[in-house]
Amino acid sequence: MTDNPGTPTAHYELRVVRLFTLMTIVWGVVGMLVGVILAAQLAWPALNFDVPYLHFGRLRPLHTNAVIFAFGGCALFSTSYYIVQRTCRVPLFLPGVAMFTFWAWQIVIVAAAVTLPLGITTSKEYAELEWPIDLLIAVTWVAYAVVFIGTIAKRKSAHIYVANWFFAAFILAVAILHVVNSFEIPVSAWKSYSLYAGAVDAMVQWWYAHNAVGFFLTAGFLGMMYYFVPKQAERPVYSYRLSIVHFWALIAVYMWAGPHHLHYTALPDWAQSLGMVFSLVLLAPSWGGMINGIMTLSGVWGKLRDDPIVRFMVVALSFYGMSTFEGPMMSIKTVNALSHYTDWTIGHVHSGALGWVAMMTMGSLYYLIPRLYGLEKMASIRQVNLHFWLATIGTVMYAASMWIAGVMQGLMWRAVNEDGTLTYSFVQSLEATWPYYVGRLIGGTLFFVGMCVMAWNTYQTVRQGEPSVQPVQA
Ligand code: HEM
Ligand code: HEM
Repeated sequence: MTDNPGTPTAHYELRVVRLFTLMTIVWGVVGMLVGVILAAQLAWPALNFDVPYLHFGRLRPLHTNAVIFAFGGCALFSTSYYIVQRTCRVPLFLPGVAMFTFWAWQIVIVAAAVTLPLGITTSKEYAELEWPIDLLIAVTWVAYAVVFIGTIAKRKSAHIYVANWFFAAFILAVAILHVVNSFEIPVSAWKSYSLYAGAVDAMVQWWYAHNAVGFFLTAGFLGMMYYFVPKQAERPVYSYRLSIVHFWALIAVYMWAGPHHLHYTALPDWAQSLGMVFSLVLLAPSWGGMINGIMTLSGVWGKLRDDPIVRFMVVALSFYGMSTFEGPMMSIKTVNALSHYTDWTIGHVHSGALGWVAMMTMGSLYYLIPRLYGLEKMASIRQVNLHFWLATIGTVMYAASMWIAGVMQGLMWRAVNEDGTLTYSFVQSLEATWPYYVGRLIGGTLFFVGMCVMAWNTYQTVRQGEPSVQPVQA
């Protein structure tokens, strides 16, 4: 499988793609199961059974790390390795190093799954892992960059397809974000303190976290979109020029929007306003991508009737459009005064995470998996259909419950009587929220069951097929 490129027997390097693809599904099931447990704990707090390892505060970072970096990360590794080979018409550069990234990334994930329930954490959101794991992440990421950029460098195609631009930006940006945000002083084998302090620490942290959203959960998945949507639609990208313009606009603007996470804090006011303005501008390049994806599918609306993969992609792009409209609105300071600290934020997160990130992954993998195993389609299209409905209904229930709960909480917390006292106590707002927590649990459970259906369907598909060998196209 690692023949020299250009020789008649050269083949694409698919083993590492297959491994990352299968682990995407495994970690998807695990991460979402933890999400369902958290949702249940928020409705019935006693479900932590007084066991420290099952405490909400310890399981929450386990969930976010598992879904973002394990599920999302494996999906990005697998699709980027596949796409870069196919579009550059060469096998991966240094396949052994690519294999190293697979095993190293799994070790990172397992280390996270062990340390987080033990309460070992830096306490920086989305960067909770302690310094030894941080070092392994840095090494893995450099190896990833070498393989990906090395493959582009030895390409046989005339130009670099736009999907690769998005993946390259994601890989480079995440390397910088991770290294800068992780400057820390180790005080023992499993404890370190951030090099930054006070408002600077907060600013660096949210510059990191916001761009983790922008590059990990957005740019990488746009790369996926730009390959799999035209493939499944069997049409070229609607506007290649738009894809290039919105790429540069997106990466130029995202970097400045982080302060919208720190409205009304000790951060200088001008920095907050800057973050707000850049967030509002971000609507345009985000919608550039959404419109380009939807318009690529516009000639094949008929496929919506019988092609569940196209449906996954249309819903994913719609949620991308929705969450990138909602985000700029929430970044307006007066709106944020209502939304911050409420479940509105959680609704926004999951309309992006379930609706966009997970649905785009699922659609893409349903295209990819049969091709990795020498088959034309998944073992059961009925199950793909079932998954689509479970995921769509689940996302809508999750997001709608949190939107209603969030706006209600915001309004209850700020309501004051004529004499200036608060109209509602915090506990009253919690009681009012309870039915929506149950609604979210039901929606989340549907989404999780859909993921299990995908796992079963994948198992059946892999059993029917044989690992495929794809010759490099001339
Ligand atoms: C079955 C599916 C899922 C369920 C039931 C679920 C449930 C939850 C719950 C209960 C929380 C804690 C909310 C709180 O603290 O109030 C949470 C947080 C979070 N989840 Fe999920 N989740 C699911 C899938 C996902 C996926 C697929 C992603 C990302 C790709 C994701 C990303 C996040 C993030 C980033 C947070 C932290 C949000 C914040 O701090 O504002 N979740 N999730
Ligand atoms: C134009 C695009 C977007 C903008 C301007 C934006 C803006 C915002 C704002 C203002 C918040 C609330 C900050 C707060 O009050 O604490 C937020 C939170 C969040 N957004 Fe977005 N958003 C965008 C797109 C997305 C997408 C597509 C996703 C996911 C795929 C996403 C994931 C998140 C997460 C995970 C948080 C919670 C962070 C935390 O507090 O832990 N955002 N976003």
